[in-house]
Amino acid sequence: MILVTGAGGQLGSDVCATLKAQNRPYLGIDVDALDLTDEAAVQAFFADHIDITAVIHCAAYTAVDKAQDDFETCTKVNVLGTTYLASCCSDIPFLYISSDYIFGSDGNLPLETTDPAAPQSVYAKSKYAGELAVEALCRKFYVVRTSWVFGEKDTNFIATILRLADTHDTLRVVCDQIGAPTYSRHLAALLCDMIESGKYGVYHATNEGACSWFELAQYILKAEGKSVTVLPVTTESYGAKAPRPHNSRLSKKSLDENGFSRLPPWQDAVNEYLERRKNL
Ligand SMILES: NC(=O)c1ccc[n+]([C@@H]2O[C@H](COP(=O)([O-])OP(=O)(O)OC[C@H]3O[C@@H](n4cnc5c(N)ncnc54)[C@H](OP(=O)(O)O)[C@@H]3O)[C@@H](O)[C@H]2O)c1
Repeated sequence: MILVTGAGGQLGSDVCATLKAQNRPYLGIDVDALDLTDEAAVQAFFADHIDITAVIHCAAYTAVDKAQDDFETCTKVNVLGTTYLASCCSDIPFLYISSDYIFGSDGNLPLETTDPAAPQSVYAKSKYAGELAVEALCRKFYVVRTSWVFGEKDTNFIATILRLADTHDTLRVVCDQIGAPTYSRHLAALLCDMIESGKYGVYHATNEGACSWFELAQYILKAEGKSVTVLPVTTESYGAKAPRPHNSRLSKKSLDENGFSRLPPWQDAVNEYLERRKNL
């Protein structure tokens, strides 16, 4: 049975839906079922569930700006929680989701899995520390770094832009961070292919192509026929609390080399999401 943490979150809910559609045995849990920051509870959970054969670890503290003022909770969930979980999984496949934010790059080339990490924010440092814990504790690990995830949860960037478009004439959106929007449904399908493949290692997985947040906002608003003015602003003038890398382009070489299919272009992913959103 595959254990999925963060089952109530964007990615975790799509991983569970994918496994269900594939008729594969899984158990999706959230903080109510198991608080990952409680070491004794994590150990007791694994003692009670000896049929767990693999883990897809989607749970995380993901409030990037809030984390700057909440180092303790962010570190507890992303570093300690991951460590407690990984400690119980030394011999079973363990898939950890990480982030483009572990890089601190200003360049414009796609980042390889082997490029040096340079996490800048509290959140980014916690995600990178989580990677190191998994690599140290699990023999059969996958680390999958992704970026700019959107899914059915209504707090994602696309949903936020559409909500703001209904109440504002003008939106200011950052134009100097370049990355790839990633649809959680597409990523979930890849993770479910990967988890029992035995092709352990570090991967980058996002929808194909790259854009800025500004370009993404323009694309969404045009697709939805909203006539709102979008102003491009720099990261500096936008002034978010947490620093973010300018270059979030991730190379997919490791996916290619291991025979995994790349995800569809980000525009197709956004179109699919917008279409499904209409039926929610
Ligand atoms: N979102 C992005 O843009 C992005 C980009 C790159 C990488 N990632 C990574 O992708 C993964 C999935 O992200 P997501 O967007 O699906 O996040 P999400 O929607 O915020 O889901 C995270 C889940 O983790 C749960 N959780 C938090 N603290 C927990 C605890 N102590 N014990 C057990 N569960 C806990 C949350 O429960 P509550 O809701 O009840 O707190 C939530 O269900 C994460 O590892 C994230 O770091 C995300």
